[in-house]
Amino acid sequence: MGRDETLRQLLADAAERGIRYRESCGDRPVAPTPAAVAAVPGLVEPLPENGCPDDEVLALLDEIGSPASVAMAGPRFFGFVIGGSLPVTVATNWLSTAWDQNVVMHEVTPATATLERIAIDWMVDLFGLPAGSGAGFVTGATVANFTALAAARHRVFADAGWNVEADGLIGAPPVTLIVSDEAHPTLFKSLGMLGLGRDRVVRIPTDGQGRMKAGDLPPIKGPTIVCTQAGNINTGAFDPTGEICDAVKPAGAWVHVDGAFGLWAAAATSTRPLIDGFEKADSWATDAHKWLNVPYDGGIAFVAKPADLASAMAITADYLITETEHRNPSDYTPELSRRGRGVDVWAALKSLGRAGVEALVERCCEHARAFADGFRNAGYEVLNDVVLNQVLVSFGEPATTRAVIEEIQREGTCWCGATVWQGRTAMRISVSSWATTEKDVEQSLQAMIDIARRHTPAPSTEG
Ligand SMILES: Cc1ncc(COP(=O)(O)O)c(C=O)c1O
Repeated sequence: MGRDETLRQLLADAAERGIRYRESCGDRPVAPTPAAVAAVPGLVEPLPENGCPDDEVLALLDEIGSPASVAMAGPRFFGFVIGGSLPVTVATNWLSTAWDQNVVMHEVTPATATLERIAIDWMVDLFGLPAGSGAGFVTGATVANFTALAAARHRVFADAGWNVEADGLIGAPPVTLIVSDEAHPTLFKSLGMLGLGRDRVVRIPTDGQGRMKAGDLPPIKGPTIVCTQAGNINTGAFDPTGEICDAVKPAGAWVHVDGAFGLWAAAATSTRPLIDGFEKADSWATDAHKWLNVPYDGGIAFVAKPADLASAMAITADYLITETEHRNPSDYTPELSRRGRGVDVWAALKSLGRAGVEALVERCCEHARAFADGFRNAGYEVLNDVVLNQVLVSFGEPATTRAVIEEIQREGTCWCGATVWQGRTAMRISVSSWATTEKDVEQSLQAMIDIARRHTPAPSTEG
């Protein structure tokens, strides 16, 4: 193609606009202004009969889309569990998008497939998973749960003498699914998508932090899958997966861990004890777009025995290349065609190193503790033990708490969401971004407490 001035101008313009957007994230209100949101319907039109110059398409996107975007990439977005995408991962994402690789087969995407394999090996090391564990890159923890549980489904049925991939579930032997009452909704959805049923589960009650007790699980009889959690979406609490594995694995159960963000606790010395024993499980789901701070989207399904995942996912066709020498990425994912999302994971880990990931996790946990201390000192109730990056705060009556949250979102210094924890309405703070500093925490605390004071009588700060 050679030097192409039009291409250069277009991509440079996109880079300049992207840089400007990122630079603005710390200064602008986190939520878009009502005027910016009101401009979005201006994009709605019938399918254009004729095209529009590329630079105008980009300008329109930036002029209307950028101001109407929530500053999730900024330092003071504490909603849900959302990372802020490290600058290096935005850069590598742009470059690998330019490559436009379809990571189905190693042979036709050697660089991307190799980078993904390296990223998997690094994460297996970082998390302390069994040597030889394998993985597939998927869109997020929802699909990672689905994918890992497809491997679980394969194994438990195969052990019962049933080929579930070939023969389906009609007439299959019964399987017991043991799931925490506090499992994330996407875990139940995954079971539903696998034909195992969202409701055909044995639900185990949890304690005040949302943890199962190993002793509460029923005796294991026949094919069984047990699902545990690393990092409760509200409290950040961990199920005692090591103990659960000790209890159920001798009877042949498969143990799956939903560690969408909690698996990253393995990377830091102070949080590592939360996750001790998780390596005894058979499969793990996690997200890179949460705590590793890569751009959306990036989830990973790990399995101790890659052959179980390949049995559930691999296909062959005359026109595809069957690998004997290398790992074919599509043998481990529901998708055939997909983007090379593992490149961003490789870039984040290469840029941070083990020490950088540890610092990121430690920093977010310190910020979470600072939020909890700040609210407690101001006289507000923190509902959870702050063991990780999650903080639940009550401002009193449910309606008051909701009113405070709405005003915090409107005011724009920071953004937090609402939840109901064991019957109590609460504000949920999730510190997951590389970009958040102590100053951001102080500034956000000040703004939130000022707002809360306007809705509540000054609470007692004694004792
Ligand atoms: C524990 C847990 N599991 C699963 C999910 C779903 O992840 P995703 O939205 O990346 O699919 C989440 C999301 O927050 C989560 O916290």
